[in-house]
Amino acid sequence: MDHDLLYLRPNIQVEPLFDYWYAWSHLIPPATAARNVTERHFKIMDSYINAPQVHANAVKNPKLLGGPFIDYDGKRVEDIRNLRNQTKQMRPQLIELSDAIASLDEILRTRAKGFSLQPLYNLVPDPLKGYVELVYDLNHHPSFRIIEPLLYESRYYDRSTQSLMLSVSTGDERPFVLSTPRLESETHFHLRLPFDHEIIDELFRLKSVPRSWGEIKEMLNVPESSERLVRSFLTPDPPAGYAPSQGRGIRWRYFGHACVLLESRETTILFDPVLSYTYGSDVPRYTYEDLPDSIDYVVITHNHQDHVLFETILQIRHKVKNFIVPISSGGFLQDPSLKLVLKQIGCKNVIEMDQMESLDFGNGSITLLPFLGEHSDLNVRCKAAHLVRIGKHSLLFAADSCNMEPRLYEHLHREVGDIDAIFLGMECDGAPLSWLYGPLLTKKIERAMDESRRLAGSNFDQAIRIIDQFNCREVYIYAMGQEPWLGYIMSIKYTDQSRPIIESNKLIEECSARGVFAERLFGKKEVYLESVNQIHSVGL
Ligand SMILES: [Fe+2]
Ligand SMILES: [Fe+2]
Repeated sequence: MDHDLLYLRPNIQVEPLFDYWYAWSHLIPPATAARNVTERHFKIMDSYINAPQVHANAVKNPKLLGGPFIDYDGKRVEDIRNLRNQTKQMRPQLIELSDAIASLDEILRTRAKGFSLQPLYNLVPDPLKGYVELVYDLNHHPSFRIIEPLLYESRYYDRSTQSLMLSVSTGDERPFVLSTPRLESETHFHLRLPFDHEIIDELFRLKSVPRSWGEIKEMLNVPESSERLVRSFLTPDPPAGYAPSQGRGIRWRYFGHACVLLESRETTILFDPVLSYTYGSDVPRYTYEDLPDSIDYVVITHNHQDHVLFETILQIRHKVKNFIVPISSGGFLQDPSLKLVLKQIGCKNVIEMDQMESLDFGNGSITLLPFLGEHSDLNVRCKAAHLVRIGKHSLLFAADSCNMEPRLYEHLHREVGDIDAIFLGMECDGAPLSWLYGPLLTKKIERAMDESRRLAGSNFDQAIRIIDQFNCREVYIYAMGQEPWLGYIMSIKYTDQSRPIIESNKLIEECSARGVFAERLFGKKEVYLESVNQIHSVGL
């Protein structure tokens, strides 16, 4: 029996964790991780310990979706208290680093008045000494840049925080991960390996290449007490298998949200990988099983957790030849280098590209176009829309680009000309600044200011102006967080009255009136580009 060949079941959920909290891209760079530990995790845990019932009620209230509430029905107070205490005990260096960032901000606020910053180096708190450069902008507003590659080499980057939690996934319902830590349970197998460990690749290869139970047990170092559980994650049944395009030319497939797979005979490109597992559902979808064995480029549009999802990236990285990420600002706290983040979690061949830079591949190219907005007006450079030319086709993957300045697209049109098809996000309400970036702020932000600065994509007026400017013939609204399997990272539930739905409906109507094909993508879709005239009957 030990010699039977077994695959990893396609519904095994693998959550990457950082000290039991769901690992997202701000939990890798030491500085943003430290701020999230003290300003998000500790605050949520303290609040739950003090008032568990408030949390239990809040998670049931649709108006509070995505709020700072732990989704354990108010019944895990002791476990959460232990987690908080254990983190305080085990990670004093992160608390120190977070405090140092707050102190440095305070020093700069009170002491940097436009005169030389040289004397202030003496006042930089010890944990940050030698890891920061103090700078002004041209209006003499002080700030600091972190020397990120060095900080990863310091005691503030500790791979022992990282682990994976494996369990069986049977449906789309999952707690919102920025607010609820994953606790140990008898249905979950805790694999204590850092994200860059090669065994993680071996584990996910098991989805397509079977091995014996004896080998798997040894590879994952499964203790006897967990053997039954881990064995239940395996199956002798091979996966359903990926269906290649079978000579029908260039194809794209929508996997949900901003995840699109574009394939030609020569090249495979996957945008913003966020995939569903395979389980029974009313909403048809492509899943991990629908990916080819080899992906030439994984392309990331920006550093938000619904576009850079470690849970997916770790599972597919062994198939990926190159990752393309936008360049970051070089050390500002709110804009950590995504290249370094991906390298730290074990991705190879990470290519950092700047706006208007192009990369050529066999039968086409990828050009990074500027992407405005969506980051609450913070100085974040790590964002790009991607213009792909493939064969005779051109497609723009604009993600959450917010057309705050239509003149940009006039300038771009002069450079790149007309574009056949655009994929554009229209999540135009967006969360306030503090929802994602709050832990990085060291001074309380006024509510009205916070509310005015959103993580929002384009509305109708903004979207139609991009479409007009590029004379697009096809419009796909995507990245709306609508698919039911995204709740754990997005916490969005629309109604017909939600502004993103109203605005995108208006866009579809307006496009149709002008003879432009427009659709809001949902679930799955497949299009072959060779037969442009017929594509709409092919769509699922
Ligand atoms: Fe975003
Ligand atoms: Fe998004």
